[in-house]
Amino acid sequence: MRNLIPLLIAVFSLAACGGNNAASSSSSSSSSSSSSSSSSSSSSSSSSSSSSSSSSGRVEVTTLIEEGDRAFCPFNGIIENQHAGFAGTGYANAANASGVKLTWAVSVADAGSYSLVIRYANGGTSARPGILAVAGQERTLDFPLTTGWDQWRETTATFTLTPGAHLITLTSSAADGLANVDSLALKGPGQIAAAMCPDQPPVTVWLAGDSTVANGNTPCPVGWGKTLASYFSDKVVVQNFAAGGRSVRTWLYDVQNQMGSDGECRISTNNDGSPVLQARWSTMLGQMRAGDYLFIQFGINDGDSSCPRHVGSNAFKNEYIYMANEASKRGVRPILVTPSPALRCSGSTAVANRGFINETFAVARQLNIPVIDLHQLGINLYNQLAFCPVPGGGVSASTTGPVGEFFCDDHTHFDTPGAHQIARIITQALRAQAIPLADYLRVE
Ligand code: GCU
Repeated sequence: MRNLIPLLIAVFSLAACGGNNAASSSSSSSSSSSSSSSSSSSSSSSSSSSSSSSSSGRVEVTTLIEEGDRAFCPFNGIIENQHAGFAGTGYANAANASGVKLTWAVSVADAGSYSLVIRYANGGTSARPGILAVAGQERTLDFPLTTGWDQWRETTATFTLTPGAHLITLTSSAADGLANVDSLALKGPGQIAAAMCPDQPPVTVWLAGDSTVANGNTPCPVGWGKTLASYFSDKVVVQNFAAGGRSVRTWLYDVQNQMGSDGECRISTNNDGSPVLQARWSTMLGQMRAGDYLFIQFGINDGDSSCPRHVGSNAFKNEYIYMANEASKRGVRPILVTPSPALRCSGSTAVANRGFINETFAVARQLNIPVIDLHQLGINLYNQLAFCPVPGGGVSASTTGPVGEFFCDDHTHFDTPGAHQIARIITQALRAQAIPLADYLRVE
């Protein structure tokens, strides 16, 4: 749910955000350093804002920045999730050395006093002091032992910020490096937005899907993945690994033609029993970087009753969960997409024609990740374009006019103009659902 919230912009009530943020208390702090304990956790990873009135009646805005958010800059270390009690998808485990730095890039709208609250755990052998710095001001914070890596505490420092962009840095001053850092919350009088991190590498959008996504062939079929990059600034690189004819399982694995006793097609395994992965997925696993996005869209071929393409409802969900979790572990944000609709008419209305919609939504709900309902949005588009009834009747190689230009002869796959329009509605959904990737869209 919180992945659907505009990055640091909209003001939400705590309840709407799940009420699970250790750093979203509304009390205002003026001390330069304080501690409090907290043990809440959640599975979402996006930044969010909430507002509340202090006793003086002043509105205080709290902005929470998690690992994986754009405002959380690349660092020397890893996003880890092995010690329980963290919020979001994990926490930053920076290298064990003096001078190691975490950096957050923010932009504040209103001048004033801001409290920076760092949620951390230190299960090491001694305190891990660090210097928190922003806008030329520095505070030394102790990060004392918390009695375990799964014991999380908060420490707060207060700074005066002027309107504009600021880099907040936390630099270790001991050889052991920093404590594990779960999140940074900023509490102050105004809205805070994500800003550009220095030397930010381009964001890669990884696409896993079937022929309606794949780069395809000239002139037909062309998937929406081929045209997607044209909607983004040059800070986004699209890596389209979608492949025609694939179910989620034939995309991921080497699937055999025989069905097992569990009703799923058998897959080839390695000597240790693990599945043999298709090169496209192992490449993605090796190359995805924190801050990237992974779109997952299958369901057109998975309804096949025979192997190798058949995928049952539970298996479909399990593969989506597996893929989304592998992405999240790497700080990559998964976005599920319901199957592209074919054009099917009932009189003058385009109607639903795909399965695995409920399964896609169920996984998104379970993992608290965004889903773009391309199936519905596509049908809406076909109706808006008055594609039904198709001139000359149903599916035909000789369909001319707007429908003929939009689709290949089967009215399922896209010609370049159709692929462009489908990519466009995906990007409109990114904006409408306030998925942070929308920050990189060109202005239309
Ligand atoms: C352990 C612990 C890590 C921690 C590290 C450290 O390896 O599992 O979470 O970051 O120690 O000393 O920094």
